[in-house]
Amino acid sequence: MTSRLPDAVAAFAQRGPGWDTWVRRLPRLVDDVLGEWRLRPDGAPRSGSTALVLPVTTDDGESAVLKLVGPGWEEEHEPLALQHWGGRGTVQLLRADPRRRLLLLERLHDLDLRDQWDLEACEVVAGLYGRLHRSAPPQLRPLSGAVARWSDRLAALPRDAPLPRRLVEQAVALGRGFATDPATDGVMVHSDLHYENVLAAEREPWLAIDPKPLSGDPHYEPAPMLWNRVEELDAAPGGVRDALRRRFHTLVDVAGLDEQRARDWVVVRMLHNALWELEDHPPGGATTPDRAWLTTCVTVAKAVQD
Ligand SMILES: Nc1ncnc2c1ncn2[C@@H]1O[C@H](COP(=O)(O)OP(=O)(O)O)[C@@H](O)[C@H]1O
Ligand SMILES: [Mg+2]
Repeated sequence: MTSRLPDAVAAFAQRGPGWDTWVRRLPRLVDDVLGEWRLRPDGAPRSGSTALVLPVTTDDGESAVLKLVGPGWEEEHEPLALQHWGGRGTVQLLRADPRRRLLLLERLHDLDLRDQWDLEACEVVAGLYGRLHRSAPPQLRPLSGAVARWSDRLAALPRDAPLPRRLVEQAVALGRGFATDPATDGVMVHSDLHYENVLAAEREPWLAIDPKPLSGDPHYEPAPMLWNRVEELDAAPGGVRDALRRRFHTLVDVAGLDEQRARDWVVVRMLHNALWELEDHPPGGATTPDRAWLTTCVTVAKAVQD
């Protein structure tokens, strides 16, 4: 890669050995694939939380982006899911090399849902759920297995973990209920659908990008719309709790979800987020958990239920 990696992508190396190796090999990989796929770079690189995204022009003069995905497990089935959706409600997949974690995608606009009013964004996203929630292809990981494992790990947290014990116990019980409920699997869910992962487009006003697909339950979907952009709710009328409840009810009403089931999944997902933060920063380690993030997890889990 002739130009430097964006600082944000270079910093992924600090996440551990797997990421460090990926970052070190990335400039060479970019050069290789640009040559093999006959792509010309034409714009500044982008990135999110897992990938380097390069605007490119194809051999036929088509505007596209080359997405180079890091070594996390959640993105493994992104090309498969995009292929199944076939551009209906999502970005179109033009070409993929799953082994090297490369995707060539239709280029969308440089505008996401962060600039929209949050409830308007919730309406857009809830409108996408109905289009994305189709029968899951058999290769996708079942949500029930994942929720069973995460619930066991949550149950094993020490009693003095910095989380309200009542919420931990509630999330373990709900999670174990979902783990044995047949309705937890079977529907292809995006699982990371939030403001930054919906881009404006030419073919349709808004399209989803960046799925972390699972064979799951549509009610799993709303939580990321609550925990993202939470910092701007401090000034909202009625405070953070009421503002989160307005988002939640907009998502549930527009998508026609069962309110109680959606609420239970929000509680479970927020406590799993908190669990991962605590596991990533164990007591006595070099780093400490992000207290503000733990507080957000608890605030969102409480807001939807009290
Ligand atoms: N198809 C696309 N067209 C234009 N920009 C894109 C496209 N896909 C991704 N991007 C840009 O790259 C960023 C990161 O891509 P994303 O797929 O969300 O990966 P990450 O897992 O890193 O969040 C997006 O937030 C967006 O700015
Ligand atoms: Mg993203």
